[in-house]
Amino acid sequence: MKKVIISMMVVFAFSLVAYAAANGPATIDLAQKFNVAAPTKKAVQFPHAFHQGKLQCVDCHTTDKGGVLKNQKTGAAFEPTGIKGMKNAVHDEFCWPCHVEKKVPQGKSCNKCHK
Ligand code: HEC
Ligand code: HEC
Ligand code: HEC
Repeated sequence: MKKVIISMMVVFAFSLVAYAAANGPATIDLAQKFNVAAPTKKAVQFPHAFHQGKLQCVDCHTTDKGGVLKNQKTGAAFEPTGIKGMKNAVHDEFCWPCHVEKKVPQGKSCNKCHK
């Protein structure tokens, strides 16, 4: 009996790990992820797991397994480079359009994301 319980716990632990891997990290440092060269604001710690609880994977990714991101304006693959200044692609084509559309409270307030 004890052995059965232990082996069930092992299986459960492995499936938790597999689940976490498939869903990606719970929080993601986006300054690091997008290679922001000379940050002037605090690096955004993106609450990934929080968004997963509110949205579908394909709202942000091109597939339901994650991977390549989706431009929120065009639906095309979104692979930002050279992020610099206020007028940058991550604001304009990813985070902000959805926050505006979904009426996220203070969705464009600097310290909502840069904290
Ligand atoms: C609100 C937008 C959003 C939603 C919803 C979302 N993700 Fe993500 N996800 C991101 C961002 C932003 C990143 C970090 C950028 C990147 O890794 O390309 C990311 C990264 C990932 C990664 C890591 C990719 C890597 O190469 O490190 C995986 C895996 C992933 N997401 C899976 C999922 C799955 C599965 C779902 C649905 C259950 C989901 N995501 C929902 C925005 C989102
Ligand atoms: C596809 C839609 C979508 C995209 C894209 C998106 N968000 Fe959000 N975001 C939401 C929604 C919906 C909420 C939750 C509103 C609520 O229920 O309070 C939210 C809330 C948040 C919050 C508040 C979390 C909390 O604990 O209350 C932060 C921070 C945030 N988003 C950061 C970002 C950043 C950074 C990006 C871009 C990398 C981003 N979001 C992209 C839809 C999105
Ligand atoms: C919804 C989330 C969100 C909000 C709100 C937001 N930003 Fe950003 N911002 C990002 C993300 C994500 C990046 C790219 C990753 C990073 O730099 O951490 C970024 C990058 C930047 C950059 C370029 C990189 C750097 O650090 O110099 C500047 C400048 C910037 N933001 C300024 C602002 C200002 C000013 C405001 C308020 C008017 C603001 N942001 C509001 C998410 C947001």
